[in-house]
Amino acid sequence: MLAGDDVTAVLDRQTAVMEALTSGASLAEVLDSIVLALEDLMPASRCSVLLLDDAAALRHGSAPSLPVEYSSGIDGLLPGPRAGSCGTAVFLDRPVIAVDVSRDPRWARFRQLAARHDLRSCWSTPIRSGSQVLGSFAVYHSTPYEPDARDQQLVRRFTHLASLAVEHDRASKEHDARLKADLARQSAERANLAKSQFVTAVSHELRTPLQSITTFTENLQTLDLSPEQRRVALERIKNAAGHILSIVDDVLDLARVEAGAMPINLDDLLVGDEIAAAVDLIEPLAAKPGIDVVCSGPSVAVRADQRRLRQVILNLVSNAIRFSAPGTQVRVFTEVAERSARIHVVDEGPGIPTELMARLFVPFDRLGADAGREGGAGLGLVLARRLSEAMGGSLLLESVVGVGTHATVVLPLTRSPA
Ligand SMILES: Nc1ncnc2c1ncn2[C@@H]1O[C@H](COP(=O)(O)OP(=O)(O)OP(=O)(O)O)[C@@H](O)[C@H]1O
Ligand SMILES: [Mg+2]
Repeated sequence: MLAGDDVTAVLDRQTAVMEALTSGASLAEVLDSIVLALEDLMPASRCSVLLLDDAAALRHGSAPSLPVEYSSGIDGLLPGPRAGSCGTAVFLDRPVIAVDVSRDPRWARFRQLAARHDLRSCWSTPIRSGSQVLGSFAVYHSTPYEPDARDQQLVRRFTHLASLAVEHDRASKEHDARLKADLARQSAERANLAKSQFVTAVSHELRTPLQSITTFTENLQTLDLSPEQRRVALERIKNAAGHILSIVDDVLDLARVEAGAMPINLDDLLVGDEIAAAVDLIEPLAAKPGIDVVCSGPSVAVRADQRRLRQVILNLVSNAIRFSAPGTQVRVFTEVAERSARIHVVDEGPGIPTELMARLFVPFDRLGADAGREGGAGLGLVLARRLSEAMGGSLLLESVVGVGTHATVVLPLTRSPA
């Protein structure tokens, strides 16, 4: 079992890789960071990742420390019983250790190429997703070499990270491809299409926090962690689980309201009280960046579902706060028209470009905003609009780049017994 300094070093690098993965770095960048991290932990090694392509050939994935001439020499390698360490490992679906490639029969075809680049030993491990082999993770040395228990643990761990990176990349590509294909068929099957896009997006959104949970659970089970490291791992698991829960709650709400099955309990409510309650909840979020949330206007009686109205206001005010610069103001004010009340939420944030306005109410579309760790899933506005409509009202959004964003909720007034 890894212990002491090794554990800290592994955790630091693993966290860096997971962060690169969630922040949307390319597959090549993530694989490079994995390979470089392992080289750091196993001095004198040079590592590489090869990935299977659609034609079942092994293609260059990452090899920042190997000579380009060597990498391109083995690019396109077909797995087989005598295809060096990588091709053989993928073919047999088990690790292959060629202690000395100059004597190993599996290396007959590549011996000279290896010798030209001072590569004497190669140990390759399959990268897998479930039972499917995705590629190989190779560790080279310039002298004959046999891995010890520590090296085997390290490679097992980083090979697992590489498989997460490849799975993540595949899921994103599938998601993009699906989105593109779906758009092309849009006019044909609008309703079905929306559903399938939605399902892909939901699973895509859930994948990252689930991967976090798996990784940190595995750490807890297999690493000799200090109490502080255990606390951090548990905290990560808790945050990821909370994120999944909030997505699931929003998705269920959205599904219910779209199906017209959301129970709506209309009451006579004083709009000022509901704004105050929602703003109270969210004020701590504004306090840190020093955003001032100011409420004003008449507190008239409206017909609405208390829980859902608060949910709408919370969504709008949290957007205003999240996208505003520190030191600016968010104004929440009310206005009475003939038969309706209006709640305005106005910020001095960056505003939204006109060409993106049409995508505002598309589930999971964040208009390219970085999700980050605290970021939302991109469900807030569509849910707020559907809920407003379910209460007999509406939600409008106007925005000017460089000036700010202005959301308006319109709700029916309570009918006074004339
Ligand atoms: N007040 C605002 N200022 C600037 N951009 C905004 C504002 N409100 C929403 N947006 C943009 O619209 C996108 C969608 O907003 P929405 O509230 O639906 O999702 P979200 O805030 O990203 O996540 P969620 O609300 O699910 O937590 C945001 O990601 C952001 O890009
Ligand atoms: Mg939001």
